[in-house]
Amino acid sequence: PLGNLAPTPPMGWNSWNRFECNINEQLIRETADALVSSGMAAAGYKYVNIDDCWMASQRDGAGRLAADPARFPSGIKVLADYVHAKGLKLGIYSSAGSHTCQGRPASLYHEEVDARTWAEWGVDLLKYDNCGQQDGIPAKERYKRMGDALAKAGRPILYSICEWGQNQPWLWGAEVGGHLWRTTGDITDTWASVMDLLDQQVGLEAYSGPNKWNDPDMLEVGNPGLTRGESRAHMSLWSLLNAPLIAGNDLRSMDSWTRSALTDPDVLAVNQDWSGRQGAKLRDDGLTEVWSKKMSDGSVAVVLLNRSPETAVISTTAAALGLSGTSYTVKDLWSNTTRSSAGTVRAHVPSHDAAMFRITPGAAAGVPPLVTVEPVSPTP
Ligand code: DGJ
Repeated sequence: PLGNLAPTPPMGWNSWNRFECNINEQLIRETADALVSSGMAAAGYKYVNIDDCWMASQRDGAGRLAADPARFPSGIKVLADYVHAKGLKLGIYSSAGSHTCQGRPASLYHEEVDARTWAEWGVDLLKYDNCGQQDGIPAKERYKRMGDALAKAGRPILYSICEWGQNQPWLWGAEVGGHLWRTTGDITDTWASVMDLLDQQVGLEAYSGPNKWNDPDMLEVGNPGLTRGESRAHMSLWSLLNAPLIAGNDLRSMDSWTRSALTDPDVLAVNQDWSGRQGAKLRDDGLTEVWSKKMSDGSVAVVLLNRSPETAVISTTAAALGLSGTSYTVKDLWSNTTRSSAGTVRAHVPSHDAAMFRITPGAAAGVPPLVTVEPVSPTP
């Protein structure tokens, strides 16, 4: 990949999941303002990403992409300056074909001029989609053309490959310059979609690492189709997977529950920690699952997932998580309670929800040692 632009999974916001083509420069400015005022920027969310529909319907007279004059009358450079002044970064979007998925002009055969244009505007990230006519050119070649163009553009631009997992981009994404690659088709704000995408991550844990992240798609946390429990499970799992955390809700009007879910420091710490492997499924009992991730300090993060329509008691043990010893400190990352355990971690998990813990060998100061306690179930 081009430079050390994503040593940990990138964090930010993208317009698509909530707004699709209903975007304009005011929305982008207000979102940048909200990233800062909500505390999300301080928590690590730095990228403000404009997805499809920012372009004018035609290239300009010099053959360059231009901003849609109705939606972005001030142009993209002015927006980049605006977000940079707030300490944020600007992301933009195009496609490795003749057109974007919404029929706007895209970048196949225009890679160098487009990369140079974005660099001149001060763009910091490109999300590169897979729509439009492609003349039978293989995906790897089309994505390499843009990776090469970005490398020559004169500005570090993080390269987000959006190929939908069709040609196993985890095998070649880093080689063509990508810092992350979508592993699936599009997420929607439904529980079925979140679980479907989760299932498609199994086995991909061998392929990620600093500057080369698997991307199970952007967050739907806080969008209307998910309950709070479903959003909590989604956030827990995407964090454990070291997924890029790109919020996809309306930051200007989110409630405090959503803001807390997106910015929980213990949960984000799991996402941003690289210990040599992203989290993975440890155990599958059908309607309940245990996912775990070794942390770089020797602790283990665990998600107890309940896919069933009823509350379930889900448990695992320190030994199953690869920990040795006789006493453990168990922190419930969503309720912020810390308990001791002799080795069992168990929770009553509501339907379509998850509990998330971090288990550290040894008893913590101030926590009674060697008492087996059932960690509390998360609040619905
Ligand atoms: C398909 C991508 O997978 C989505 O994330 C979004 O970028 C749309 N295209 C935009 O048309």
